[in-house]
Amino acid sequence: MTTLVIGANGQIGHQFCALAAQAGLPIKAMIRNEDQRAWFAERGIDAVIADLEGDFRHAFEGCDQVLFTAGSGPHTGSDKTLLIDLYAATRAIDVSRELGIKRFLMVSALRAENPQEAPEKLRPYMAAKFSADAYLRASNVPYLILKPGRLIDEPATQRVATSLAETGGENTVSRANVAHALVHLVQAEDLTGREFHLLDGERGIAEALR
Ligand SMILES: NC(=O)c1ccc[n+]([C@@H]2O[C@H](COP(=O)([O-])OP(=O)(O)OC[C@H]3O[C@@H](n4cnc5c(N)ncnc54)[C@H](OP(=O)(O)O)[C@@H]3O)[C@@H](O)[C@H]2O)c1
Repeated sequence: MTTLVIGANGQIGHQFCALAAQAGLPIKAMIRNEDQRAWFAERGIDAVIADLEGDFRHAFEGCDQVLFTAGSGPHTGSDKTLLIDLYAATRAIDVSRELGIKRFLMVSALRAENPQEAPEKLRPYMAAKFSADAYLRASNVPYLILKPGRLIDEPATQRVATSLAETGGENTVSRANVAHALVHLVQAEDLTGREFHLLDGERGIAEALR
């Protein structure tokens, strides 16, 4: 099953692609420009150039599964939150349905189910994630939703938790652990239709995400 990685050049995207390539998993990286290609070529990863604000349908060619880990990031305004985190995600889901993609893995966010409970500054982002997740659930595209906590840059421990109760309220997870979890999830076809929170914790990934 070849996975199209949307957001492949991002921080999670890079870590996921490197691990997937090491594990011999078939992936195709969707990137935004030619300058980003060398990093993937060095690792033997096929890359396709496409922009989520333009026509990106061609990127899906030869892919059976989609991993959406793109995001507008913290340095843009609500306009990009709306265009990327919400609208581009729904368009990627539409293309997936039209092309018969076997599964769509969404990188959402912890507490996206309650945008009003987020700090005021984060509410538009959480509302975008909430709505993209709802669109995916209603789409008829087989899906899996991963909701990481606040992302931090720490080395992988490969030890995780799936609830705030389990971590005593600690709400962070390393991007490295998210990347490892995604490597597990893209291969776990039996987990289709499931949704997981993801935090740094004490349990092995396969044990926690099942
Ligand atoms: N930050 C948090 O605490 C947090 C918590 C939970 C979930 N998340 C989610 O985790 C995911 C990844 O996080 P991250 O830290 O890896 O983010 P990141 O480093 O900002 O990566 C985002 C990726 O999206 C790509 N992108 C943005 N606009 C695009 C466009 N118009 N067309 C194509 N690609 C576009 C970027 O491309 P370029 O490389 O070309 O810029 C980048 O590769 C996101 O979905 C985010 O919402 C974040």
